[in-house]
Amino acid sequence: MMRSKVLKALKESNERYLSGEELSQQIGVSRTSVWKHIKKLKEEGYAIESVASRGYRLIQESDILSKAELELLIQEVGFIDSVTYLKTVDSTNTYAKGHADKVDSGALIISDTQTQGRGRLGRLWVSPPATGIWMSMVLVPDIAPYEASKITQIAAASVAEALVNATGLDFTIKWPNDILLNGKKVCGILTEMSAELNSINYIVVGIGINVNMDQFPEEIASVATSLKIETGNLHRRYDIVKEILVAFEGLYESFIETKKMDEALSICKKRSAVLGKMVRVIRRNQTVEAKL
Ligand code: BTN
Repeated sequence: MMRSKVLKALKESNERYLSGEELSQQIGVSRTSVWKHIKKLKEEGYAIESVASRGYRLIQESDILSKAELELLIQEVGFIDSVTYLKTVDSTNTYAKGHADKVDSGALIISDTQTQGRGRLGRLWVSPPATGIWMSMVLVPDIAPYEASKITQIAAASVAEALVNATGLDFTIKWPNDILLNGKKVCGILTEMSAELNSINYIVVGIGINVNMDQFPEEIASVATSLKIETGNLHRRYDIVKEILVAFEGLYESFIETKKMDEALSICKKRSAVLGKMVRVIRRNQTVEAKL
C-alpha cells in the first residue's frame, strides 16, 4: 500500500524534512501522488508540516491509529496476514466473527470506537473514540476445542508483558483475563470460539485497553482506570499494539509448536494479582476463604 510507504519514509527520516522529489523517487510514484497521500495522512490526524522550499516532515509524538501505520506493523509479525482498521463498529469481536471464514492464519481488526463493545457475562464495554485500544485477533489454530481457554491466558500474559515494555509500569493479571494497574482494571479480554466437536473453526481474541481517557462513568470509576489517569501522561496506542503483537507471536507460536505454555503460565504466575492472597470462594450458598 503506497500510503504506508509514504508514512514509513516520513517516520524513518526522524523529523528531518524530506522533499517531494526525494519521496517520489524513494517510493516510485509521482510527486502529485506523494502530495495526495500526504493530504490523506494529514486528514487522518498526522502532524505533517509542509514547507515549500524543504518538503515534508512528520512530528512524531501524536497518538494516531491508521490503516497505513497498522499495515506497516503487521509486516513485522508472521501470524497476522491482514488488518482491518475501522473508525467505528458495533464490536470488533462481532465484526471479526462475521469475517472469520475468510481468514487463513490470522487477522487483526481494530476500531477507533465501538458502539456496542462487549464485555464478559453480557456486560457492556465502554469504548470511547481515540482513547483506547479496541482490537480483535482472529486465529485459526490447529488445537483441540478444550485447549482454547489457553489462548486467553497466552493473550493475558502477552498484554501484561506488552504494557510493561511499552510503559515501564507494573501490571498484574487477575486470572483469567483482566489486567490491573494499581489494583484497578485497565484491560479486559473476551475470547470467543466457533468449533466442531473435535476441531476449531476459529478463535476471536478481543482485547480492550483503557489508554488515554481522563475519566470513567461513576458506576465503574472505583474499579476501572486508564494509563493516562494513573500516570498523567498520554500513551501511544500504536506502540502498545505493536508490543502486544510481538509478545503474543512469541508465546502463541511456541504453544502451537510444542503444545506447552510454560512461559505464558510463568508470566501469569509472576504477575498474578491473586496468587498468595486470601480469596473468598462463593459456591452456591457456601462461602470458603482460602489462600491461593
Ligand atoms: C471483559 O473484561 O469483560 C472483557 C472486555 C473485552 C473488551 C474488548 S474491546 C475489543 C473487543 N470487542 C468487544 O466487543 N469486546 C472486546
